[in-house]
Amino acid sequence: MVRNILGQVVRGADCFGRDKEVADIWDRVQRGEHILLLGPRRTGKTSVMLKLEEAQPKEWKTLYRNVEAGRTPSDIVAEMVAALLSVDQYREGLEKFSLGRKFKSLLDKVGKSTETDSATIVGEVKSILANDWKTTLAEIQGRLESGKIPVKILFILDELPIAASKILKDKKQGKAGLEEFMDAFRAMRQRSDLAQKVGFLIGGSVGLDAMLARQGMSALTNDMNPMPIHPWEEETALDFLKCLSEHEDYPLPLDTRKAMVMLVGQCVPSHLQFFFSELRTLVPDGNPTQDHAKDCFTNALFPRIESSLLSHYDTRMDDALTEPEAAIARMLMRTVAQAGDAIPIADIKIASENRSTAEDMLDFLIKDGYLKEKNGALSIPSSLLKLYWAQKARRRFS
Ligand SMILES: Nc1ncnc2c1ncn2[C@@H]1O[C@H](COP(=O)(O)OP(=O)(O)OP(=O)(O)O)[C@@H](O)[C@H]1O
Ligand SMILES: [Mg+2]
Repeated sequence: MVRNILGQVVRGADCFGRDKEVADIWDRVQRGEHILLLGPRRTGKTSVMLKLEEAQPKEWKTLYRNVEAGRTPSDIVAEMVAALLSVDQYREGLEKFSLGRKFKSLLDKVGKSTETDSATIVGEVKSILANDWKTTLAEIQGRLESGKIPVKILFILDELPIAASKILKDKKQGKAGLEEFMDAFRAMRQRSDLAQKVGFLIGGSVGLDAMLARQGMSALTNDMNPMPIHPWEEETALDFLKCLSEHEDYPLPLDTRKAMVMLVGQCVPSHLQFFFSELRTLVPDGNPTQDHAKDCFTNALFPRIESSLLSHYDTRMDDALTEPEAAIARMLMRTVAQAGDAIPIADIKIASENRSTAEDMLDFLIKDGYLKEKNGALSIPSSLLKLYWAQKARRRFS
């Protein structure tokens, strides 16, 4: 039974649906594919990543890490090493390897604990690696290829695109630094000895492929297969609200559920969860009507989530884009939001010096789910986000 969880990643029974996506991912991973998990903000990518572990086939071990805090390739490789230290079969006999000897004291300290998530351990791993990430990556490969580890590994690196973006924006590392890492990382994924033994799934709140494409580095992820995580279909959203109403003992008629789904426009799980929560506050005794839903949508839901949930979509642009790019992306969002239902791309006026960036941003906004393109016209699929950007547009000085 699903509970109404607000804001936290959902696990176990609280993660509604997504069984098809999870089965599909495992199927692909077992066939040796590496996966790029792509989807708009807050659609439930991290929740799907965590569900993969619950459904892992017997011979596989899922290693999930959120690498958002990473600023260098060493930070990312340190997360991978720390994750590997949680695998008993990997730790056994590790001291026979040169990398393993360096970890001797850390291993003693960690003991039999499989808790290698803590920042302290990752910090220690990092100091042992002393920024020599290339040697470390080679050693990890060697050890995994040696065939001594009777378990297959799926590395899930959540928010790698954010770490990649930091490397790119860093003056010392920049494009060359990112290219060097992505190149070594791709080479690892392509090792034939690792095929079907080690899989990688990369995802995050920013699409890695579009980001690398903007830097002319598409080739560095062309071995990975994109797998979209879409917002829920209308039917799934209606089922979800029905389950929520039963579990939370809050009567919610079908007509009202349908109105809620229609009002949000795009069934992002967390938007529906907040809607449910606000409706319950507005009509505590249950059985809210469609009019209650409408009233709640504009007067309670939007103001409640505007500065927390919806602004997240906006601020994420700063992580993924350069300042001039983000300015143009925001201008495009405001223009589309003000245009009513849909606006033909040809009707959007862009100064000639910004045209090429605007074309890149259009690609980014469509791929990352901010905008939808149909027959050459643009719209914002989520009504809540449309309100958000329309408000931003209204609040600008001329
Ligand atoms: N399958 C699901 N069942 C129930 N709630 C869900 C589900 N997927 C997502 N949610 C809700 O949406 C919120 C966001 O989910 P999650 O963090 O997995 O999304 P995300 O796509 O990784 O977000 P971001 O783009 O910010 O990284 C969760 O806190 C939870 O409330
Ligand atoms: Mg996430």
